[in-house]
Amino acid sequence: MSETLLTQCHALLNSPETTPGERLQAVCDLLQENVPHYDWVGFYFRNGRKEELKLGPYAGDPTDHTLIPFGKGICGQVALSNQNFVVPDVAAQDNYIACSLHVKAEIVVPLFLNGENIGQIDIDSHTPDPFGPQDERLLEAICGEVSRLFSDRGITDPASQLS
Ligand code: SME
Repeated sequence: MSETLLTQCHALLNSPETTPGERLQAVCDLLQENVPHYDWVGFYFRNGRKEELKLGPYAGDPTDHTLIPFGKGICGQVALSNQNFVVPDVAAQDNYIACSLHVKAEIVVPLFLNGENIGQIDIDSHTPDPFGPQDERLLEAICGEVSRLFSDRGITDPASQLS
């Protein structure tokens, strides 16, 4: 399953005559439409040199949380920890920003460019405890591909170019 998805993501991220933003949007749409436990899929990127994340392309319900300070919520914690954060039950988290009452679980995987944590992919699920190592591996691979997309184009500040 995830091999096929990764192959499809690879094709979308390399599709000619589309902007990087369009390619990331296509990846969000693909994942949200094809993985039953992925109900919201989005990218956040560091907002310039500010200690905050800015929402980039996403698929799913609109969110109020278009800017998230470093340290705040699951996303803000990953901006500082540089580690994947798998949350089987969001109700058990003190430092959590609720987007929708339907969300039961979340996974955030950081995205590195030239060794620097410049953003992340964030997935919300309406299914309790749905994420396993296969999700982490898939999302790490996608983040690696997105990072190559940026480095090949000399994009160092995706937040300013994607939204
Ligand atoms: N739940 C996230 C906020 C972003 S939304 O999930 C889209 C958090 O706690 O950081």
